[in-house]
Amino acid sequence: MIRLEGVGKIYGGFTALHRTDLSVRRGEFLTLLGPSGSGKSTILNLISGAVAATSGRIDIDGRDVTDVPARERGIGMVFQNYALMPHMSVFDNVAYPLKIRGLPKAQIAEKVRDVLARVGLTGFEARKPRQLSGGQQQRVGIARCIVYSPKIILMDEPLGALDKNMRDQMQEEIKRLHTELGTTIVYVTHDQEEALNLSDTVCLMETGNVSQTGSPEELYFAPANMFAAQFIGESNLFDVVRGEGGVLRASDGTLFWPGADAGPGSKVLVRPEKLRIVDEGQLPPDRVNVLSGEIDHVSFVGGMTRVSVRTAGGTSFVAKSISERAALRVKPGDRLHVTWDAGDVIMLNG
Ligand SMILES: Nc1ncnc2c1ncn2[C@@H]1O[C@H](COP(=O)(O)OP(=O)(O)OP(=O)(O)O)[C@@H](O)[C@H]1O
Ligand SMILES: [Mg+2]
Repeated sequence: MIRLEGVGKIYGGFTALHRTDLSVRRGEFLTLLGPSGSGKSTILNLISGAVAATSGRIDIDGRDVTDVPARERGIGMVFQNYALMPHMSVFDNVAYPLKIRGLPKAQIAEKVRDVLARVGLTGFEARKPRQLSGGQQQRVGIARCIVYSPKIILMDEPLGALDKNMRDQMQEEIKRLHTELGTTIVYVTHDQEEALNLSDTVCLMETGNVSQTGSPEELYFAPANMFAAQFIGESNLFDVVRGEGGVLRASDGTLFWPGADAGPGSKVLVRPEKLRIVDEGQLPPDRVNVLSGEIDHVSFVGGMTRVSVRTAGGTSFVAKSISERAALRVKPGDRLHVTWDAGDVIMLNG
């Protein structure tokens, strides 16, 4: 549905986006995820036509649109700041894209009614944007975008201004709309949880480059590089070298198995929730896939309890486990032993 080939953007001497290839399938939900300034909005603006590419070619629906102006690309946009017209009612805001397309009045009224019902805003037709909550304004923004059934919707941090509960609720609504309408969506966020929750595909950006593209599961369980490993989820990372018998040895003596192909600069990663807290007597006798240390901090974060631990060698690691209703069993200063399954060791080659 959307194809970028070698598309880059340079402002003056500054490269906002290095030459990038990216494809979005029809009906796919693709999220551009990355830190501030990594080039997410630049890609979105290049697709919409708001910004002209310095290099490369953009195809939409099989047609080269590189030089086609924004209004002729048939793309809908939803912005973080809603961009509603303040003097117009909810009805008129949503009706606007249909009016400029010259639809008959009766048809406009019917479509606006349908779409407002879809986003849960029936009864709000006469209100002005300032008489709505942030979440309601955001839903008007989405209604105004979906009302004319664009084949592609681009959303730039649409939920950034909302509190956590409203964000979760709006994520569900966006997901539902995507499933029901089958629209191709390109979404921008710097919130990894939002990206993992919403997307078929996540495209992780780092300083004007695509760092990794894959399903949410691929990015979490098979990060392609250090940046991906650290940006998505929490990681315990160890520099390793190959030891005797193919075991990997970290500088503090921690042993990992399986060994895989460790070269110079290799690291292994174990996610905190894969570390199982065990009694010393339950540790495997070969001391492989084992860490022991003294607890620095224990934090209760709702469903999970997060424990940070310092080993005798001076390295730190984090273990997370499902919180227990009974008072916490561990406290700072305690000794803690953890082990993990060999299959949970992720290898990152340098
Ligand atoms: N019009 C412009 N002129 C010069 N530099 C620009 C312009 N627009 C963007 N940039 C630069 O390009 C880089 C990428 O910007 P972009 O807006 O794509 O980042 P982003 O990933 O969307 O970040 P954020 O999460 O903060 O919105 C940034 O370093 C930014 O300063
Ligand atoms: Mg941006």
